[in-house]
Amino acid sequence: MASLVHLPFQPTERGLGCDGVRIESIVEEIGTPVYVYSAEAIRAAYRRLDAAFAAYPHAIHYALKANSTLALLRLLHALGSRADANSVGEVQVAQRAGFAPRELVFTGVGKGRDELAYAVANEVGTINAESPGELDRIAEIARALGRRARVALRVNPDIDAQSHPNISTGLRVNKFGVAVEEAPAIYRDRLGVADLQFVGVHVHIGSQITTPDPLRRAARALASLARTLRDQGVPLEHVDLGGGLGIAYDGVTMITPDAYAALVIPELEACGIPVVLEPGRAIVGHSGALVSRVVDVKQSPEGRRFAVLDAGMTELMRPALYGSFHRIVPLQPRATAEHAWDIVGPICETSDAFARDRAMRDLAVDDLVAILDTGAYGAVMASNYNRRLLAPEVLVDDGRWTVIRRRQTLDDVLALER
Ligand SMILES: Cc1ncc(COP(=O)(O)O)c(C=O)c1O
Repeated sequence: MASLVHLPFQPTERGLGCDGVRIESIVEEIGTPVYVYSAEAIRAAYRRLDAAFAAYPHAIHYALKANSTLALLRLLHALGSRADANSVGEVQVAQRAGFAPRELVFTGVGKGRDELAYAVANEVGTINAESPGELDRIAEIARALGRRARVALRVNPDIDAQSHPNISTGLRVNKFGVAVEEAPAIYRDRLGVADLQFVGVHVHIGSQITTPDPLRRAARALASLARTLRDQGVPLEHVDLGGGLGIAYDGVTMITPDAYAALVIPELEACGIPVVLEPGRAIVGHSGALVSRVVDVKQSPEGRRFAVLDAGMTELMRPALYGSFHRIVPLQPRATAEHAWDIVGPICETSDAFARDRAMRDLAVDDLVAILDTGAYGAVMASNYNRRLLAPEVLVDDGRWTVIRRRQTLDDVLALER
């Protein structure tokens, strides 16, 4: 049975908790900024999606790009997840977390020859090629290594994901994949190439998709192409529907995993071939919060209130990159009226802001806030800009918390320099 949605960050009598663990007790030991994740939220999200697809043969390949911290990968692997890697670095991190190469799909818009050689030599489950040229390079590399590479082609179905333009990947103007109508000829021309084994076909139209229609149409396009390919004699083992299912950053609206499955399964039944799913955000998004301290507050003569945090775009880039919304909650809300606050980071960039004109209870220096739903595309996108040090990550599980990545030190950063 599908587990219920698990929302780990809830107020307790002693301030905001993560699955009952008082977040301030974590901050007291390791300071701020810090990412806090709930193991239970990840388990619940994985199981819920898996259960939603129970009626159709499927494999979940968790997309490492959303968050690839080893402890989270081990947790997902223990649940039975496979993995989707977007670079050879992610392939190797997945291996170190315990995934066998056979359990991986390897996607990526521009894979270097060395990356392809690593994937072929290690017998990665499927390499999702982005172009006919890449298929030919894979064949060449496989021949040289005396291997037969398992491949799929990523097709671009020209479907608007209706997400933010920067994370929509399924339109013809986007750089991803090959035009869907070109795919049959590309497969046909290479069916006799002994170094390639065509095991699948791949589509991924974008991320944070919150409207049903694009998801349904992508599944339909994929199933229709799969039938054409099968009729051409391509022995497909799977169709890969990519990731993209959105999460409710506003805490209210969303396509549930059950609704997603109900949308796409009837489309997939038209081909009957097992489906590979590559969810990232839907598995880890709700599991994480970035906890930060207010380091300054000020008010402009016009009455604008600013709270400056010790976390910024270096810790969480999504608001600066896509103008994305995250709920921000004080660990100990003050008993004041709400006012419009700009919640900003400490970096010298105007885009370094988490929220503008956000109605919040008043904040004061040293208050702690949690920026919610930052389990996906948070820590993985962090940078050392302004020579800032990567924040630590903590995993809460079964009433206890563990540091799963320590805070970076300046010596860590400078170790690469002479
Ligand atoms: C090829 C591919 N698969 C899967 C994903 C995961 O997407 P999401 O985190 O939206 O599920 C991405 C991210 O955009 C991707 O590029």
